[in-house]
Amino acid sequence: MRILCLGSMNLDYVYGVQDFVKAGETVSALSRDVCCGGKGLNQSIALSKAGAPVWHAGLLGEDGAPLRAVLEENGVSTGLVREVPGPSSHTVIQVDRNGRNCILFYAHDGLRITDAYLDEIFSRFGEGDALLLQNELDNAAGAMRRAKARGMKVVLNPSPADESLLPLPLELVDCFVLNEHEGAFLTGEEDVSRVLDALHAKFPGAMLVLTLGEKGSVCLADGVRVEQGIFPVRAVDTTAAGDTFTGFFLAALLAGKSVPDCLRRAAMASSIAVSRSGAAPSIPGLDEVERALAAGKA
Ligand code: RIB
Repeated sequence: MRILCLGSMNLDYVYGVQDFVKAGETVSALSRDVCCGGKGLNQSIALSKAGAPVWHAGLLGEDGAPLRAVLEENGVSTGLVREVPGPSSHTVIQVDRNGRNCILFYAHDGLRITDAYLDEIFSRFGEGDALLLQNELDNAAGAMRRAKARGMKVVLNPSPADESLLPLPLELVDCFVLNEHEGAFLTGEEDVSRVLDALHAKFPGAMLVLTLGEKGSVCLADGVRVEQGIFPVRAVDTTAAGDTFTGFFLAALLAGKSVPDCLRRAAMASSIAVSRSGAAPSIPGLDEVERALAAGKA
């Protein structure tokens, strides 16, 4: 099975701060880094580092050479990535002293996913392959419909959760990987303890993988519920922790591992990512994750 990840590739401008900037405030940043990121790029790299065969698709601007290079250095196929005039999408990220982040994302109009581009991408994939999407690119509906028409599985990480998700044909999704806030947004359920049941009521045929921050994660598939705790670490930067979780979970699942094993691997990989700075640079390799699991700590 091959994985097509159609997703964003962002230049992340990361500023270390004591506390997030509040309305009307000006503060001096403690540090500044420019890193490769984007939920799509991070998840492609996590999948590849976890051992899955992954093709990335999406649009870069004229400044996007480092983004393509980091995908290739990490074993991701980039033959379907296209360059368009203008700059790549980018983010401004604040990381506070507790490792928490807040992210401002911007993509200009030239970075639109056309139907012609989707036709070109999907002509290379078929029965038995999987499509992974996030919510930082447009035309997700076109991608989901093409994937289903070709017999592919559809996996959605609905992040960031916003109004653009609501008109999507979410009934086509075979597997959701999401956090409790995204689950609450999709279902309207405000009580976190009821989000999983609300998701199941809304998408009864889908595998559901819900991350719960410090409470760990839970998977509901074929009527079986499996829970997994976190591996505690000192949080340096939580950026890309969810992307790392998604990539490691999916790679293990597609490699035929049991759901408890998939969750354990994903939990360990994301804990390691949280203990490091940056998005893509924080994603561990499979060997490191397996060694940490054998040792029982991140
Ligand atoms: O999930 C982390 C990512 O979100 C960052 O790399 C940033 O680019 C934003 O897309």
